[in-house]
Amino acid sequence: MRFTPEWIQTLKGSISLVDIVGENVELRKTGNRFMGRCPFHGDRSPSFSVNKDFYYCFGCKETGDAIKFIMQLHGLSFEEACEDLAEKAKVAIPEQDSLSSEEERALYIRRQNLQKGSRLNYFSSLQFYHQNLLKGTASPLFLEAREYLKKRGITSETIQKFQVGVAGSQHDGLVQFLANAKAPMDLARDFGLIRASQKTSGDYDFFRERVLFPLIDLRGRVCGFGGRILPSIDAKPSEYKLPKYLNSAESDLFHKSNFLYGLYQAKLAIREEEVAIVVEGYFDVISLHQAGIENVVAPCGTSLTEEHLKMLSRLAKKVIVFFDQDEAGITATTKSMELGLKHGALLYGIRFDSKLDPDEFLLENPAEHLPLLKSWISGASPLLDTAIDRLFRESENDVEKRAQAIKQATHWLTLYTDPVGRSVRLANLVSKWQVPQAALGALAQQVNVGPSHGIRPKAQNPIQPQSRPEAPAASQMVRRKGPLTSFDRQLLHFFVKFSAFGSQFMEARKQLPEKDTLCDFFDDTEVQNWVRSVSEDPSGFQRLQHAPESFLKLAVSQELQSVIMEGLLQESVPGEGPQLNALLKRAVYKAWARFSHKLKAEMARADASQDMEKFKELSQQFLDLQRKLKDFEDSYVSGKND
Ligand code: UTP
Ligand code: MN
Repeated sequence: MRFTPEWIQTLKGSISLVDIVGENVELRKTGNRFMGRCPFHGDRSPSFSVNKDFYYCFGCKETGDAIKFIMQLHGLSFEEACEDLAEKAKVAIPEQDSLSSEEERALYIRRQNLQKGSRLNYFSSLQFYHQNLLKGTASPLFLEAREYLKKRGITSETIQKFQVGVAGSQHDGLVQFLANAKAPMDLARDFGLIRASQKTSGDYDFFRERVLFPLIDLRGRVCGFGGRILPSIDAKPSEYKLPKYLNSAESDLFHKSNFLYGLYQAKLAIREEEVAIVVEGYFDVISLHQAGIENVVAPCGTSLTEEHLKMLSRLAKKVIVFFDQDEAGITATTKSMELGLKHGALLYGIRFDSKLDPDEFLLENPAEHLPLLKSWISGASPLLDTAIDRLFRESENDVEKRAQAIKQATHWLTLYTDPVGRSVRLANLVSKWQVPQAALGALAQQVNVGPSHGIRPKAQNPIQPQSRPEAPAASQMVRRKGPLTSFDRQLLHFFVKFSAFGSQFMEARKQLPEKDTLCDFFDDTEVQNWVRSVSEDPSGFQRLQHAPESFLKLAVSQELQSVIMEGLLQESVPGEGPQLNALLKRAVYKAWARFSHKLKAEMARADASQDMEKFKELSQQFLDLQRKLKDFEDSYVSGKND
């Protein structure tokens, strides 16, 4: 195995779960643990609890350690999550010793290259482009970039936060820098940092004469760059016009269609507010962020895609599209709205009719415009509703226009995959805009003009319910017939705190019919199996004392995992010792009662095979046992049970 248990222990010892979760979730200390809103389900009140070793959500019951957290959050394999964490903690990553198949080997090499590639990007970004912007003197463009960003109102704090950089005019500045650092040049070519020259034998830099925005993904990897041309270069007469913005070429690390600029810096704010704002450009992202509107992202020069919507819907309940109000921006907004409808998602829009970009609007008059922007954002409404209303308002006195409006609105409603959302709008068309039902075509049957007419559905992100099953549904796959008994739950809560209560369990075990097995304390078969695997592990009890969460994965059902986690997280209260003793006494009684059933079955078998000797022996045992059970019962009735 590549990652030995010892290595994983070292890794876990070098990282802090609270820090790792804290990078993705706003955490507050309560008692001896931290609480925040769960990143794995739409969590309104903070139900996500984190302590030194593991996290647990009281809402959706997700639980695990740092490795599982990273796996779940970023959709990584166990190995990838370990690698990411090890990289962060600067723990040496063991090399793969043996790879069984060609396929595995290819996959491994690909992963290694991705990792090296992102490191190379990170290195170039931070040590070269960013340094040049902070204090480079080799090129007059470095100074120009500093002045330019200042003029656009970007502070040095924002420059740091977004790791903004600059590429000068030297054709092989980065090539030389990387060569001096003995970097793998072939990878630098693969990931688009440099290119092999057609004319000479050397390489040249891909980005030149631009302000550079590193494209950082949710995992914190630098996947590529977006570069804006510097004004002096843009103004130079040239035979062909250079593009204003240039992105890294597509690579295994960077796919334009599923990348959102700023998401890494915005994710905490998006989770916290449950709202994501999508703007058009890099400068819009960083200026709004700088002004305190931090939940902002932008696609990298593409329109919104299905992948973008999926990424955002994992973090936010509401997605607001805030594109420029020029023709291109308005078209892109409508396209995004339609894409959302197809996925059952209502995208939101804000009241903004300035011809300026969000970033220019803000810069024009920060003191007045910032509060305006904020109030527009909080008053965002579904694009679909504003669009339909506009169509109908504008066609009030024009029959042909009205016909077009009806066609357009029914087209949108046909796209919309959410049946409830659709029927509310249909009702609105009929009651508010007096659209004859016959004009709605096939949709007419779905019109439901009732008391709900005219009511807008509450803001809610509908992408998820359709594409992702709710957590409880998944857990039902491994559900027993009924829920765990409250008895099993209570006893398990004590059992997992073995360091405190182990001796009581061990003492009570002596009274069980079969003395060497703790699983007899419990009713449920799954719980029994879990306890059995703990006790059968040679170092089981020791581990149960020091790392009880390491047994979590042995629990099959989500419910059992939850009960274990709850036990581990419970704070101790006075009077627990006697309470446990009472439970154990009852458990012993139940174990004997089960044993008595077993005896009875054996008696029946002996009787059937006419083994009278055996039958007599068993009957005697059975009678003794009945007396014993009666004593137990009496002791309960007379309250001597604790
Ligand atoms: P804009 O042309 O609106 O640029 O393109 P901008 O954000 O206002 O840029 P500034 O403020 O003049 O610096 C919006 C976005 O479209 C992409 C970029 O992602 C840009 O941020 N774009 C634009 C390109 O990919 N290539 C281009 O040539 C232009
Ligand atoms: Mn702009």
